[in-house]
Amino acid sequence: MQATRNPLPPGPKQHWLLGIGIQQVKNPLRLLMRGHQRHGDLVYFNLFEGPTLLVCHPEHAQHVLVENVRKYRPVGPESGNGGPLLGRGLFASRGDFWMRQRRMVQPAFHRPRMGPMVAGMVRGIERTAERWEPLARSGARVDLLTEMRQLVISTLGESIFSRDVYAQSEPLRGGIDLITRDMHGPRDSLVTTVLGLLRMLPARRRRFMAAIQGLNSALYALIAERRQAPDVGDDILGMLLGARDPQGEGMSDQQVRDELVSLFVGGHEATAVAATWCWYTLARNPEAEQRVRQELAEVLRGQPPSEATVQHLTYTRAVVEETLRLHPPAWRVVRQAREEDRLGDWTVAPGTLVVVSPYILHRHPSAWEQPEQFKPERFLAEQRERREQRQAYMPFGAGQRLCIGNHYTLLLITTALATLMQRHRVRLSSEGPVRAMSGSTYRPRDGLMATLQPVGSAS
Ligand code: HEM
Repeated sequence: MQATRNPLPPGPKQHWLLGIGIQQVKNPLRLLMRGHQRHGDLVYFNLFEGPTLLVCHPEHAQHVLVENVRKYRPVGPESGNGGPLLGRGLFASRGDFWMRQRRMVQPAFHRPRMGPMVAGMVRGIERTAERWEPLARSGARVDLLTEMRQLVISTLGESIFSRDVYAQSEPLRGGIDLITRDMHGPRDSLVTTVLGLLRMLPARRRRFMAAIQGLNSALYALIAERRQAPDVGDDILGMLLGARDPQGEGMSDQQVRDELVSLFVGGHEATAVAATWCWYTLARNPEAEQRVRQELAEVLRGQPPSEATVQHLTYTRAVVEETLRLHPPAWRVVRQAREEDRLGDWTVAPGTLVVVSPYILHRHPSAWEQPEQFKPERFLAEQRERREQRQAYMPFGAGQRLCIGNHYTLLLITTALATLMQRHRVRLSSEGPVRAMSGSTYRPRDGLMATLQPVGSAS
């Protein structure tokens, strides 16, 4: 058996000292894709971070993320403390503490809780629709990625706090803006990686810490205000403050703060990127766009989406799901082996990093026909039932750390498309394929420039 001769799966040739070097910095996703094309479903790399195994088959993803969760831990500090920004929120926490928190936060995102959130989402999205009115009249160019970031932040504010905290609180806005720039900056070339390292210089670090302090005081003020007037909103903050563990204990202010930051950090950028990709795929697939418009006209009849109507927007939602297949913002989910394991014919040594890539799984020939084609029909009821392989589709991860905001995201983007497309047409400034980058998210590298037209005007 192969494993006794060579415990490492095949992989690309590498420099003895630099490993994959510049390729990893320039375009990590392309590096992984090439590895998969040349070496198969399990590929070994020696990356900067250490020995790394790329997992490309849905069954292996199931093995790592679902069936053997105890053997593979999420990366990050074992203490479960994500530092001054993330604290011990869901993203960073581990073990029993994570489990307690997950059980307390989860109910805020249960499907039945989502419907009543539609009205708040529409309020947030309307702000973008209104901002777009003069831009559409003047024919000005907009960057859809920037627009979607603003839309998502405003909508998350409504869902979490029942108000547009982003617009209303300067320290909160400053904190979120700086953190977004720092965490999702353009780090896909050597030059910008060096610039990224420079950010750790003391002056830069001081600014970052000051922004976190501003964010913290704004969040603690919102928490204190709500503790005094608990009946104000039927929203996520209300749910977090009301949550109790089996011993009847609630969360401390600090814990609520940490979870709020996890929701913002987890929810904001990936959702904005996903919504941006939706505009991109619709613009490049006019038949799909036409079908969405037809569905909106039939179901909504010119009204904003509501809890009752949004669930009938099945094709629009399928567009969102198919976009997440072709352009998953979370292009990799990383684990580290705690102990030795077997994966296929190979041995996984303790400490090995295991990269599961939704981008690659979403194109795996064992699960998808014509994987590069944009076909929202794949996600309509009939075809969905025929898809058998678990983890062939996992834009939100899988297993116990599955994204807590998955239903929320699909609802939010469907509602956003439905609200905005009834009022505006989006025309991309460039017809060719956009340059993508695989950094903290998989996203259009230079944003997505477009012009807007009011619906009903001559195109
Ligand atoms: C397109 C949008 C989104 C994508 C692609 C996405 C993707 C993911 C993925 C892949 C994970 C699992 C990471 C892992 O297993 O290591 C995750 C976790 C998480 N996501 Fe999302 N997410 C999205 C939107 C959201 C939203 C809207 C929220 C909250 C409002 C959110 C909050 C979280 C949290 C708190 C976790 C950590 C869960 C835990 O470890 O218990 N995400 N997300």
